[in-house]
Amino acid sequence: MSSGADGSRLERRAVLGSLLHGTCALAAFCAGCGPDWREATVLPPSTDAGACGVTPGSPGEGWVEVKLSEHPALREPGGSVVVRLPEALLDVVVMHTASGCFAAVWHICTHGDCSVSYVPGEALLECPCHGSRFGEDGRVLRGPATRPLHAFPVGRVGDSLWLHRPR
Ligand code: FES
Repeated sequence: MSSGADGSRLERRAVLGSLLHGTCALAAFCAGCGPDWREATVLPPSTDAGACGVTPGSPGEGWVEVKLSEHPALREPGGSVVVRLPEALLDVVVMHTASGCFAAVWHICTHGDCSVSYVPGEALLECPCHGSRFGEDGRVLRGPATRPLHAFPVGRVGDSLWLHRPR
C-alpha cells in the first residue's frame, strides 16, 4: 500500500501520461512549454512510431535528438529527410506525416540493399529496386519484401525530435 504522497504522485503521473499519449494537439502545444518534458516521462514510450505525443525519455535511455533546425524539410507536413547518425547506429527516414505528427523507419529495404523513399501523397515508402512498399509505420504493403521496416518511436520536445533506438 502506498503512502498518501506516493499515491498522489502516481495519480498525477497517470493523468499526465493519459493526457500526453496520442494527442497531436497537446503534443504540439506542450512542445513549447517551459520545463523539459523528457523529465516528466511517466509511461513507457509507445511502440507506435506514427503516433503523436510520444513522450521521449533521456539520451541514457536510448533517445537520440534530431534538431528540426538542421532539417527544415521536416517543418511542413509531407516533408521527410534521411538522417544518418553513425554514432547512434541510426540510418532512418524521418517523416512529418500529418500536422505535428512524425514517424521514423529504417532507411534500407528489408528485401535487399536499396534505400526507400517517402511518398507523402500516398502515405507510404517505396523501394526503387523491386517496388516494395511500406506504410509509414514500416509494415509491408507490397512485396517482394516480406519483413517490415523497423519503426522508431518519435517524440517532439521544443524544436527537436527524439527517436528511440533500441539498446
Ligand atoms: S531491394 Fe527493395 S524491393 Fe528489392
